[in-house]
Amino acid sequence: MNWDKNILENINIENIEHIEEKKKVAEKIADKVQDNQIIGFGSGSTSYLATIAIADKIKKENLQIVAIPTSFEIKMLCAYLEIPTTTLSEKKPDWSFDGADEVDKNNWLIKGKGGAMFKEKLNIANSPITYILIDSSKRVNNLGEKTKVPVEIYPDAINYVKDELIKLEAEEIVLRQAINKAGPIITENGNLIIDVKFNNITEKLEKAIKAIPGVIENGLFIGYNVEIIE
Ligand code: A5P
Repeated sequence: MNWDKNILENINIENIEHIEEKKKVAEKIADKVQDNQIIGFGSGSTSYLATIAIADKIKKENLQIVAIPTSFEIKMLCAYLEIPTTTLSEKKPDWSFDGADEVDKNNWLIKGKGGAMFKEKLNIANSPITYILIDSSKRVNNLGEKTKVPVEIYPDAINYVKDELIKLEAEEIVLRQAINKAGPIITENGNLIIDVKFNNITEKLEKAIKAIPGVIENGLFIGYNVEIIE
């Protein structure tokens, strides 16, 4: 017996920023889907639209694919759209797709506005190739010029991590607040997110942040095998 799926029918996607550009890249990624593939699904509004476009293609062409979702948001959407899901511990993706908050000329990325960078990085690291779907607002000359770097941290480590980030020349550190709950955002892994402004993002910064005890993950994606679709 299937559950009543009406709860997701109330989600309004029409207020997504740059929706027309995002819908175009969503169609482009749906074109790449082939029968019997295991595909890593990113998170955020572009990935949300891509998931809808992929579901349409699957239904039209009667394809069998399995998704590895990177958040509850996309996992629930897959259930609603009847796309079967699995996990990285069971299957390796043939390829993945995801969005990004900033992309520079080296295809270095900042991700994590949606707070899902822990699983997003796992999918990207496990995929032979990941297609990054962007609209024109995501291109930057220097990484960090519009967006702070999200860092997921174990809650009790917050003060230690803050001090260590200052040693890495962090300019500003803000604890991300929840919108519909009092207090900070709690991630799907039970942690906090701090958003950190850096004036100079170097190749070594991602690993330097990751090496701080108490840091779970950060939103810098430097040197991964990605192809940009825009
Ligand atoms: C989710 O945690 C993020 O990494 C998103 O991929 C990123 O914020 C892009 O989001 P949009 O597709 O909503 O712009």
